[in-house]
Amino acid sequence: MTAYELCKARRTVRRFTQTPVTRELLLKYVDAARVAPSGANLQPLKYHLVTSPEECAQLFPMLAWAGYLKSAGTPEEGARPTAYIVMLHDTEARETGVEYDCGAAMMSILLCAQEDGIGTCWLGSVDRERVGKLLNLPETLRVLHIIALGYPAQEAREVPMDGSVRYWIDEDQMLNVPKRSMEEILY
Ligand SMILES: Cc1cc2nc3c(=O)[nH]c(=O)nc-3n(C[C@H](O)[C@H](O)[C@H](O)COP(=O)(O)O)c2cc1C
Repeated sequence: MTAYELCKARRTVRRFTQTPVTRELLLKYVDAARVAPSGANLQPLKYHLVTSPEECAQLFPMLAWAGYLKSAGTPEEGARPTAYIVMLHDTEARETGVEYDCGAAMMSILLCAQEDGIGTCWLGSVDRERVGKLLNLPETLRVLHIIALGYPAQEAREVPMDGSVRYWIDEDQMLNVPKRSMEEILY
C-alpha cells in the first residue's frame, strides 16, 4: 500500500483477536517513532512495551474507550488488545511542549501497524497517575498517550459527515466514522 492508501484505510479498532503481536513488530514501530520529526530535534519521547497478558490486564482498567459509544465501545474480555505501546515524556530532554512530537510519533506507529495488518487505538483518556505507578516510573518520566494494538476483530469505515462527529456501530457491527468532506475543510 502507498502512504496515501494507508492513511485512507486506517481506522481506529477497539476489538481484537487474541493472537499476540510479536515483540519484534512492536520494536519495529518504536523504531519508526524514534526517527519521527521532533521540535529542535530534542527527541523527548520514550516508550514502554506492554506485552504480557498479566500487564495488559492490569493496564486495561486505567483506559477509557470510545466516548461516543458508552459501554458498547469498550472491548469485552476476549476482544481486548494484546499489546500496548506507552509513550512517555522524558522531562530531562524537554520540559514542556512535547505534544507535536507526540502526535508525529503516534502517527508513525499507527501507519506502520496498519501496513502489517495490525489494528490500533490511540488512547488519550488514560489514568496517568495509576499507569505511572504500575510502570514504576521515575519522577522524570511522564505518561503521555498510549497505543493499543492487536489483530483486528472489528471492521470500521469512513462515512460522510451528516451534521455530527459522533461515530456509531450499525446492525452489521460496522464502526462508522464520520469525516468532514474536502469541500468543508478547504478554506
Ligand atoms: C488525541 C487522541 C486521543 C484519543 N483518545 C482516545 C481514547 O482515549 N479512547 C478511545 O477509544 N479512542 C481515542 N482516540 C481515537 C479517536 O476516537 C478516533 O481517532 C476518532 O474517533 C476517529 O476515528 P479514526 O481513528 O478511525 O479516524 C483518540 C484519538 C486521538 C487523536
